[in-house]
Amino acid sequence: MKIIIAKNYEEASKQAAEIVLEVVKKKPDATLGLATGTTPLKLYEELCEDYQKNQTSWKDIKSYNLDEYVGLAPDHPQSYHKFMNDHLFSHIDIKDENTHVPSGLGDPEDVCDKYNKMLEENPRDLQILGIGSNGHIGFNEPGTDFDSVTHLMPLKESTILDNAHLFFNDDIDAVPKASITMGIKNIMDAKEILVMAFGTRKQKVVKKLIDGEITNEYPVTILNKHPNVTLIVDEEAGALIK
Ligand code: PGA
Repeated sequence: MKIIIAKNYEEASKQAAEIVLEVVKKKPDATLGLATGTTPLKLYEELCEDYQKNQTSWKDIKSYNLDEYVGLAPDHPQSYHKFMNDHLFSHIDIKDENTHVPSGLGDPEDVCDKYNKMLEENPRDLQILGIGSNGHIGFNEPGTDFDSVTHLMPLKESTILDNAHLFFNDDIDAVPKASITMGIKNIMDAKEILVMAFGTRKQKVVKKLIDGEITNEYPVTILNKHPNVTLIVDEEAGALIK
C-alpha cells in the first residue's frame, strides 16, 4: 500500500484529485467507483474546479456509487443520489445515464441483484473510499463477510451517530437504519483503490489498517490484500503511523 500523509484536508484532497484526474485523462471511458460522506467533499470540489479551469471531459466516464440509505428517494435532501448531484455530477459533463447509485426505494433484494449485475459487467478502474470510524468501507459494517456482494446492511449505532450531523437538527431518529451497499468483494474487484481518512476521529482505524492484521471486525483491513491501494491521510488521521 502506498501511504501519503498530507499536511491537511485541503492538501490531501488536491493529491487525491490528481490521482482521479490521471485516470480520467488516461482513460476517458473509465469506470469509477464513487463515495459519499464528508471525506470526499473537498476532492469533489477540486474535480469541479478542474472542470471549470481545464474542461477535463467526463462525458464517457461511468460511475457506480458505493451505497444508499434504504427508504430515501433520490431527491431526498440526505440521499446519496442528491449528494452526488449536488457535489459533483451537476458541475461536470458526466452523462446522467452513466451515473449509478443504488436505489433506496423498491424491493431491496431486487435492487441488490440488479446493481450487482451492473457491477459485474462494469469493473471499476478506480474505487474511491472513505473509512467509517468503526472501520466500515461502503456501508459494510464490522462483521461483514469479505466475499460479500451488493447487499442490504443494517447500520450499527456508531454509524447512525456518526451520520446524524448530516440530518436536520442532528436528528438521530431521522437517520435510516439500513442501507444498500456494494459488498466487500465488489470493492476489492476494482483495479485501483484510493482510500482517504481525515481528522483525529480516524486515527485508530488508520492504525488498524496500517498494522496489517486482516479482520472483518475492521472491514477496511482487507485492503492489505489488494495489489494497488493508495491511502491518503492528513496529519491528524496519520498521527499514530510510525
Ligand atoms: P465520513 O464517513 O466521510 O463522513 O467520515 C466515511 C465513511 O463512512 O465511509
